[in-house]
Amino acid sequence: MSDRTTAALQPTLRGYESRARHVLSTDRAAYFFGGAADELTLEANQRAFSEIELLPRALRDMRGGSAGLTLLGQPMAHPVLVAPVAYQKLVHPDGEAAMAIGAAAQGTHMVLSTQSSVDAAEARRAGAYCTWFQLYWRPTREDNLRLVQRMADLGYTAIVLTIDAPVQGVRDRETRTGFRLPADISAVNLENMRPPQFAPLGDDESILFDRIAHIAPEWADVEWLCENSPLPVILKGIVHPGDAHKAVLAGARAIIVSNHGGRVLDTIPASIRLLPAVVKACDGAIPVLMDGGVRRGTDILKALALGATAVLVGRPVIAGLAVAGAAGVSHVLRLLHDEFEIAMMLTGCRTLNDITPDILYRPDQP
Ligand SMILES: Cc1cc2nc3c(=O)[nH]c(=O)nc-3n(C[C@H](O)[C@H](O)[C@H](O)COP(=O)(O)O)c2cc1C
Repeated sequence: MSDRTTAALQPTLRGYESRARHVLSTDRAAYFFGGAADELTLEANQRAFSEIELLPRALRDMRGGSAGLTLLGQPMAHPVLVAPVAYQKLVHPDGEAAMAIGAAAQGTHMVLSTQSSVDAAEARRAGAYCTWFQLYWRPTREDNLRLVQRMADLGYTAIVLTIDAPVQGVRDRETRTGFRLPADISAVNLENMRPPQFAPLGDDESILFDRIAHIAPEWADVEWLCENSPLPVILKGIVHPGDAHKAVLAGARAIIVSNHGGRVLDTIPASIRLLPAVVKACDGAIPVLMDGGVRRGTDILKALALGATAVLVGRPVIAGLAVAGAAGVSHVLRLLHDEFEIAMMLTGCRTLNDITPDILYRPDQP
């Protein structure tokens, strides 16, 4: 590691983020670290974690403890995955390939975005833990199946269908800073496919609704995908318990409680606050993951205590990538893993099964 890289290392995820904001141009920082509209959901995601307090148990036998789990048949050393984030070449010349190297260095599974700026084959070659592919619904069922089959052929093991963004949210910060995707960065895995024809916000509303109606997925499409996909389908962006129930019935193999990191619809509550009702609705039928605002090992612990099987992180690994490339990604994940194991030890949780609501402080209960 060069001196410059070593000097860039930060002791916390928030340290990485504040440094990344300086490393990146204002408009790119707005794209990666901003949120939708007034950014209330963006802010709530982190604040809600800080409002949950822990109540540890002491003097337990912690020998042979582990943070490991098996998720959809895949062994994982920690309940943390790298969330799908678009266009990573905006923060590093090697983009998703560098992200995959950093994730693999920590044995952390990574979800590649539909809008990856690196080819899916190259990302997988770069890091063996680049294992799940995130799908934004394509206008025709055939295109979806073609894309999913290609990912299966490349060795991806699951499809994460994101359902919360049929249209881009209102991104005032990006507009203010003049963010635009440069000509040399694009969604390379979608070449030869018809791009979705979204009308820009502010145009005639009926055009917006007409176009969405033609290309946005519906529950019948989800059922169809679950039936026809050679890979298990995970739904990302579930916030309503009713939709969680529908996801189980549609054949989803897992769901991710997510408000898209506060980038799509502002004023949705924090993901961690939505999690318990969704977990209850699934009633143990499928694993429930969550993302949004995870910045500390204790946040992971709180998510698991409220019923999550695992969490995903988006902006923290982007910050690592911006500050110090693959080494930065790896360091961010190492910090998170270490902090999580420390939190397990300090709350008397030897394995993930020991992480129950009992470790959360509830002033109303003795
Ligand atoms: C810049 C940016 C781009 C994103 N692109 C995608 C994407 O292509 N597909 C997707 O499903 N989610 C996308 N997300 C959402 C993330 O997968 C994840 O839900 C969110 O970042 C979690 O919140 P966190 O950043 O607080 O960890 C993106 C998030 C950011 C910040």
